[in-house]
Amino acid sequence: MDPSLCICLFTPAESENIMHTPLWSFDELLQSLSANGSGCSGKALVMYSSLWGAMITEPRGMLIPVEDHLVHRGDGVFETLLFEGGGIYNLPAHLKRLERSANRMGLTLPCSWEALTQILEDCFEVADQERALARLLLGRGPGGFSVDPAESPVASLYVVVYRANAPFMDRHPEGAKAVLSKIPPKPGGLATIKTCNYIPNALMKAEASAAGVDFALGVDAEGYLTESATENLAGVDREGNLILLPAAHHLAGTTLQRVAELAASAGRKVVERPLRPSELSELAEVLIVGTTAYVTALVELDGKVLPRGPVQAELDAMLHADIG
Ligand SMILES: Cc1ncc(COP(=O)(O)O)c(C=O)c1O
Repeated sequence: MDPSLCICLFTPAESENIMHTPLWSFDELLQSLSANGSGCSGKALVMYSSLWGAMITEPRGMLIPVEDHLVHRGDGVFETLLFEGGGIYNLPAHLKRLERSANRMGLTLPCSWEALTQILEDCFEVADQERALARLLLGRGPGGFSVDPAESPVASLYVVVYRANAPFMDRHPEGAKAVLSKIPPKPGGLATIKTCNYIPNALMKAEASAAGVDFALGVDAEGYLTESATENLAGVDREGNLILLPAAHHLAGTTLQRVAELAASAGRKVVERPLRPSELSELAEVLIVGTTAYVTALVELDGKVLPRGPVQAELDAMLHADIG
């Protein structure tokens, strides 16, 4: 384990000065939250909890019960949605994937799909941004502290609308750099659903940051590329065909699926085939695609230059036009 990933609970100075832990009343907690905040980043704009059935705009109030198995077991699934161009982009595809993830986990929404859509629209409306993201969390719900899903009779639904960074290519027109990841892909098909266990993904992002690059690319046991921490990988071959990877060890991205449809409708051939890292330099272009990456050019892998061409900008423009 990389030592930078270890958490140090006490600095040496603090450990010499251990005091009894204060016991607060609820009023004291509220006073402290009002006075000191609660470590909020300032990015969260609007929050919803199915436990109240209401929205709030004060992040200090976004309390999730510690008994929700989402908190203490990571038992839940999620989606990240983009609001841009006056609406929620590609919402049906996100809801379909959420349904697939939830079904695999035996999770049932605590409301109808129509009500969920209304909640998302209401949260974005109150956020009042031209562009924002929403994190939708479907948790196992409050129960006890075992791992048994049967403890939680009703699933929980939390939504947070938060400020979005500018698209990657706007911030880095020179394109993205990546390293190959040493983190193995999630086993047993878990990579193909969007569970709240993103520890391998977080470690991949940490690998990229430690290497001073933007993305880390996963590799499966057979040596084929999978995806980056929260984006899909695609290629363009020398004939101009868009290459998608077979979906056994990665999440089927809503954005790449839509980009492939747009490319096909513009006459570009879309093919599916596995890729090894060594093959990337033989392609015409390598792309990183996702809700927050849009269509990004990958121009370097493990310090070696990858080819760059016009298709990235073409597909990115098509995606932006589709978003509206
Ligand atoms: C692991 C993983 N792969 C790929 C993606 C890209 O999916 P989408 O295009 O739906 O954002 C995501 C998105 O969050 C992801 O978490």
